[in-house]
Amino acid sequence: MRCQLIALLDETERLICDGAISSGFNRLVDGLAALEAAAGPQRFRSEMVPACLDHPIRPICHQEPITRHAFTRPRGYAGDAGLIDLYYGLAGPSPDDTDLGRELYRAVASRSGGESVRYRRSMLASRIDAVATAFGRQSRVLSVACGHFREGSLSQAVVCGRVGRVVCLDQDPRSIDLVREEMAGRPVEPVAGSVRWLLSRESDAFGRYHFIYAAGLYDYLSDPMAGRLTARLFELLHPGGSLLVANFLPETAERSYMAAFMNWDLRYRSAAEVRQFASLVAPGAVARMTSYPDPEGNVQYLEIHKK
Ligand SMILES: C[S@@+](CC[C@H](N)C(=O)[O-])C[C@H]1O[C@@H](n2cnc3c(N)ncnc32)[C@H](O)[C@@H]1O
Repeated sequence: MRCQLIALLDETERLICDGAISSGFNRLVDGLAALEAAAGPQRFRSEMVPACLDHPIRPICHQEPITRHAFTRPRGYAGDAGLIDLYYGLAGPSPDDTDLGRELYRAVASRSGGESVRYRRSMLASRIDAVATAFGRQSRVLSVACGHFREGSLSQAVVCGRVGRVVCLDQDPRSIDLVREEMAGRPVEPVAGSVRWLLSRESDAFGRYHFIYAAGLYDYLSDPMAGRLTARLFELLHPGGSLLVANFLPETAERSYMAAFMNWDLRYRSAAEVRQFASLVAPGAVARMTSYPDPEGNVQYLEIHKK
């Protein structure tokens, strides 16, 4: 299997250097996924990832801004909001980036995983608008692990001040500072805090919400933490409110490239595992629960409505 991996890396390096940048890159991503499917996640990480990082294709991949940002972790942790901005197209290559890096950036950002991230943003903006329409000026929304809260600038209710209040929580004070600056004058309350704080009774002081969501968070949580958090977020809902959480699916084709060249490994979960997030929610309090994948088939959503 190591021979197959080296053949793939050699072939895609040659394609990219010969100018077939997008097709070479896509061949690399899909080839790595096939090798991980054959070897299994553990063997892929213990044997194949080190070989990827030793190969001359690594500095080529690291000319690409998304891959380099993820790998170098400028904020000290995986999956920061600056990285997600690169997928949103709100940040991009810098003047120092090479032409090859720019072309690779287009290839990375336009893949299905990136589409899922952009879909998530616009879908959340529509959901905030719908909650504002349903509950008017009294509406309260909680965005857990909000990052740069980029769905806010797509939401008419946020931009026009139709929503009552959106509390935006993130553990990264740099992201919270950016939200405070960019959302000044809007009905948005940025809070620097962690999931642990949300789990504590202290967070009761912030009241209850009509809509709570967490995007790009559960992919980093253990199963017990995911269960506890879901139960707590459900508790924080007003009667008639809804909770929406999301998790990347194991079918995500970019996962092997991300593990190898981006040092970005998520907790991929099946649809059944995502439904398990609700295991600690009292069934008697649930009006309706639905779970569905996004149009790209990369992200599974779980939505729980309170009676
Ligand atoms: C992948 S980003 C997603 C940002 C945003 N929700 C989006 O969809 O664009 C993940 C965010 O989760 C935040 N985060 C991770 N662990 C957290 C925790 N335990 N408590 C609060 N925020 C957390 C990070 O700081 C980061 O901003």
